[in-house]
Amino acid sequence: MSLIKKFPEEFLWGGAVAAHQIEGAFNEGGRGLSCADVLTAGSNGVEREITDGIIQGKYYPNHEAIDFYHRYKEDIKLFRELGLKTFRTSISWSRIFPNGDEKIPNEKGLIFYDELFDELLLNGIEPVITLSHFEIPYHLYTEYGGFRNKKMIDFFVNYAEVVLKRYKNKVKYWMTFNEINNQADGQSSLHVWTNSAIRLKDDDIKEEVVFQASLNELIASAKVVKLAHEINPNFQIGCMMAYVPVYAYSCNPTDAMAAIKVMERRYFYSDIHVRGHIPKYTLNYWHKKHYHIDYSVDELKILTEGTVDFIGFSYYMSSSETTVDELSGQPIPDFPHAKITSNPYIKTSDWGWQIDPVGLRYVLNMVYERYEKPIFIVENGFGAYDKIENDGSIHDQYRIDYLRAHIEQMEKAINEDGVDLIGYTPWGIIDLVRFGSGEMEKRYGMIYVDKDNQGRGSLKRSKKDSFSWYHDVIENNGLE
Ligand code: BG6
Repeated sequence: MSLIKKFPEEFLWGGAVAAHQIEGAFNEGGRGLSCADVLTAGSNGVEREITDGIIQGKYYPNHEAIDFYHRYKEDIKLFRELGLKTFRTSISWSRIFPNGDEKIPNEKGLIFYDELFDELLLNGIEPVITLSHFEIPYHLYTEYGGFRNKKMIDFFVNYAEVVLKRYKNKVKYWMTFNEINNQADGQSSLHVWTNSAIRLKDDDIKEEVVFQASLNELIASAKVVKLAHEINPNFQIGCMMAYVPVYAYSCNPTDAMAAIKVMERRYFYSDIHVRGHIPKYTLNYWHKKHYHIDYSVDELKILTEGTVDFIGFSYYMSSSETTVDELSGQPIPDFPHAKITSNPYIKTSDWGWQIDPVGLRYVLNMVYERYEKPIFIVENGFGAYDKIENDGSIHDQYRIDYLRAHIEQMEKAINEDGVDLIGYTPWGIIDLVRFGSGEMEKRYGMIYVDKDNQGRGSLKRSKKDSFSWYHDVIENNGLE
């Protein structure tokens, strides 16, 4: 037996996915078009194109995804065999409100999730649900300009109210906006699109637009948290952050200071979600940059009333930055002297993601020290090329190594550092459409899905070596 020690008795071992990356059936059951439906396929290192509506002849990998919409019963059987206690997915907003601004929800969409949650519960698996995971109804972009617009707050609250009420006896753990802080990183227009349904215009100051949209989302989230507690006091409502810790490359004090400042771009979100007010460092920054961010006294009050019960986050990698002129690196927008530089102490995946299990313990400590709230790791995983052997087996030892190393650090965080960690749902428990590039062949799953980057394949499911390994981890509550 390995040295991974015991986890808390009630620990929520599970697996995670998102609706748009698995469901497919993009135009069935009355579903409207979403922002994810107009993303073409990119490739390793090449971002996806955001098209104006759907253009004939282009390939949109999310339209079919892995066809979970029609195959979920068969997939849930496998999840049960794997031993999952929880399954994290999201609700596709445009299945419930096809355009996003209707008054009456789409009953067929609601029935789909009724049946999906029933099937999970019947198999002893607790659903953990994200309300908005990168698929805002497309109409809310064309008609209202996405989360630039304050009207979006009410559309989101209305949608959330419908599903919170409908599933109040089926789902206990909810999160509002997936990786809400992605949009603050870098100049990528993809994240602004998927987080906020915003396309940047030439004269936009990206940072100002993103601060406004983000604050609108944080207000919407706080309203939903408050409402959810009224609907069912037993609900546990979390935020969902992408925590990529930024290390100072050196002990040069300016590196250390820059690392704090870059981290504030992430903390801005969780500070509001958890502490219920706009942090002073942000208010000062807005003032210094002459940004006009619109918010009212009532909205500030809502922030204090709608603080989250737990902190959900994804962890895949760490990053390091330097301010030292002699070192090269990729400039960090809005931080004139800082640049991201590679960390000589850690390796990277085939997609250039830094593999850093200790970084997970570092984040768990950092976040728990700051907030002292329960933490749920709702994404972590290893995207890799998998090879099918002639006999159909898939030996993904690299994935097992990655996950084991991270679970070992979680155990230390719980038992040595005292972090209140309540669960772990590795990402892409079943192969799915990669978010960043739309590739299928950056695989995260313990269950293989026969489909390639061009959309060819039988969609047949098969088990990888990591399947039985993770099964044993769950069965023995952390011990292999
Ligand atoms: C997170 C998202 O960014 O990381 C997921 O919440 C995404 O939707 C995951 O799939 C991994 O990123 P990628 O681009 O490799 O799919």
